Amino acid sequence: MIRIQSLTFRYEDSKVDALHDINLTIPDGSFLGIIGPAGAGKTTIAQCISGIIPHAVRGDFYGSVVIDGLDSADTPLTDLSRLVGTVFQDVERQIIFPVVEDELLYGLENFGVPREKIEERMTFALTHTGITSLRHRTISSLSGGQRQKVAIASLIALQPKILILDEPTGELDPGSSRKIFALLQELNRTYGITVVVIEQKIMLLCEFAKRLAVMDQGRIIREGSVREVLGNISRLEEIGVNCPRVARFSSLLGEQIRQEISVCVNVEEAEREARRVMG
Ligand SMILES: Nc1ncnc2c1ncn2[C@@H]1O[C@H](COP(=O)(O)OP(=O)(O)OP(=O)(O)O)[C@@H](O)[C@H]1O
Ligand SMILES: [Mg+2]
Repeated sequence: MIRIQSLTFRYEDSKVDALHDINLTIPDGSFLGIIGPAGAGKTTIAQCISGIIPHAVRGDFYGSVVIDGLDSADTPLTDLSRLVGTVFQDVERQIIFPVVEDELLYGLENFGVPREKIEERMTFALTHTGITSLRHRTISSLSGGQRQKVAIASLIALQPKILILDEPTGELDPGSSRKIFALLQELNRTYGITVVVIEQKIMLLCEFAKRLAVMDQGRIIREGSVREVLGNISRLEEIGVNCPRVARFSSLLGEQIRQEISVCVNVEEAEREARRVMG
């Protein structure tokens, strides 16, 4: 479980808090999506959960982040990284080795995965991210999207209890993005891995995440099931969150016929509602 209590963080030399009085509990086995406009504090909260803040980034840190009973501020980053795997927003920062296979091997060896298990884990991660054919390629020859998949594969190979992904599909086309989310869902369902994903593609989150947290100006302004959060579409649009068209559709339809319509989170639901209303 991740328990964030009264967390406030201000980057060194900054005049405003990047996070302000955050309280959030993420139970084991969650699949949480975090959304919010640029500068809301999404990356900062991800770094607090992974322990990069306060260990590797300077600033004023108040409150606490407790992961599986370990207070992040008192736990060495190397111990935290065994529990929490992070895919950074900037994947270039993440990949160290010049060849794909070495990048994956490094983590596996570093984590003390037994020799006989290494190949199995490597194959699993490469297959599930769809990059088996890239195993011996140099990183410099890969596209942005392929690098993103390598970063995700390296983490999945380690099978951490918690996965945090900061805009993991930013460089990916819709098909690949969907595959990555399907993979995250499988890891979540089959292995009970807690998934926290920061994502702009809200339709994907609607389909795969169980809960959503909305951030704005360093605060969590809403947290709940996907339906609960998307139910208040005007508030989301006010802060500049690009809402799914199907959710906007159900909200407009409700206004038109002056009836409470439950929010639609996919095209099938929107179609059903439209047919129902039109008789
Ligand atoms: N290293 C840093 N030093 C100083 N201020 C920072 C630093 N990184 C982020 N900030 C500031 O902290 C606030 C939160 O930034 P953060 O990167 O967490 O937002 P975000 O929601 O991830 O935005 P985006 O959608 O653009 O990725 C912003 O005001 C940003 O300018
Ligand atoms: Mg960010």
